[in-house]
Amino acid sequence: MLAASLDRLGTETAFEVLARARALEAQGRRIIHLEIGEPDFATPPHIVEAGVKALRDGHTHYCPAPGLPELREACAAHLSAHRGLAIDPARVVVAPGAKPFLFFGVLATCDPGDEVIYPNPGFPIYESVIRWAGATPVPLPLTEDKGFAFTAEALAERLTPRTKLVILNSPANPTGGIVERPLNIEIARLLADHSCWILSDEVYSEMLYDAEHDTIAGHEGLLERTILLDGFSKTFAMTGWRLGYAALPEPLVEPITRLMINSVSCTAPAVQLAGVAALTGTRDEVNAMLAEFRVRREFVVAGLNDLPGISCVTPRGAFYAFPNITGTGLTSKQFADRLLDEAGVAVLAGTSFGEYGEGYLRLSYANSLENIEEALQLMLGVAAQQ
Ligand SMILES: Cc1ncc(COP(=O)(O)O)c(C=O)c1O
Repeated sequence: MLAASLDRLGTETAFEVLARARALEAQGRRIIHLEIGEPDFATPPHIVEAGVKALRDGHTHYCPAPGLPELREACAAHLSAHRGLAIDPARVVVAPGAKPFLFFGVLATCDPGDEVIYPNPGFPIYESVIRWAGATPVPLPLTEDKGFAFTAEALAERLTPRTKLVILNSPANPTGGIVERPLNIEIARLLADHSCWILSDEVYSEMLYDAEHDTIAGHEGLLERTILLDGFSKTFAMTGWRLGYAALPEPLVEPITRLMINSVSCTAPAVQLAGVAALTGTRDEVNAMLAEFRVRREFVVAGLNDLPGISCVTPRGAFYAFPNITGTGLTSKQFADRLLDEAGVAVLAGTSFGEYGEGYLRLSYANSLENIEEALQLMLGVAAQQ
């Protein structure tokens, strides 16, 4: 008999679709993978070398739960320089990925009965963890007509005295939309009257194509109540290393560290030293990767807009396209399933990111231009049958 509470825990469909795609591959089918959200580039060599050297040098034991001092300092310096904030290293906590901060951030702040406002369509773990904590998820719809952002009025309508936490994600998964400075100014004005916490998921903050990153934590004293979350997975193509960090409000440093001690103990020290190399070393490979994503973004958006019944706004950040497929007459799930089963292209249904994702697909363009071109041809086959 399993715990009843497991019924409240969701999942990330990307891993399920990946498993289905791999099962088809095992039967000999060729599959083009546009489902999983990870850069298709290798981790830059100087980062790999730093991790290998750290292992050889004997960094193979437990280390302080909130992170190695040198990495906490490097993260604080990076956040301070990149976001224009003064971040004290004592407030930085390191974890195996950015994801633990979503889990621990919600667990540390929310009780049953509390309300949490979160973006929808949005990263599925937000809703899952809110429910797991027994809190009430309050979706904030991101709409295509707003470039997959939202209005301050839409946020204001959802704020109540029970709002305990507001989750923001810019640039956003799955839409590639961003929250620009003028909207953050309005959000900050609204939140000045509410004592809620804020969780700002900024794991794509260095993957922007035509805009500057603006963090909510930089507005009117909000740093004191914002869990400012960033990681290494996306920026440095380090998804498998499992490394992330957050600048926490001072009262959350000890509780979140305690949650870490209760779960993972600490983050592998050799991985942390690779993280120091990532933050302090050359950016050449990272810049080359971003240049390549920019080319693919143009290509995939143009290609999608040429398909019958499909239209796609240009994403501003991250490496996802979120085309509207309502003109095909298929639901998101029908289109995604047919694309995988009939055409061998793995994508995610927009509904994997919440109910407001109906009518859309998410394509990760972390794949070669040749594969993207082939995938678009195969999509044409499915779209044209309608
Ligand atoms: C919006 C968002 N937040 C957090 C994460 C988790 O990243 P990490 O690999 O650092 O745990 C992801 C990964 O897909 C993401 O898209």
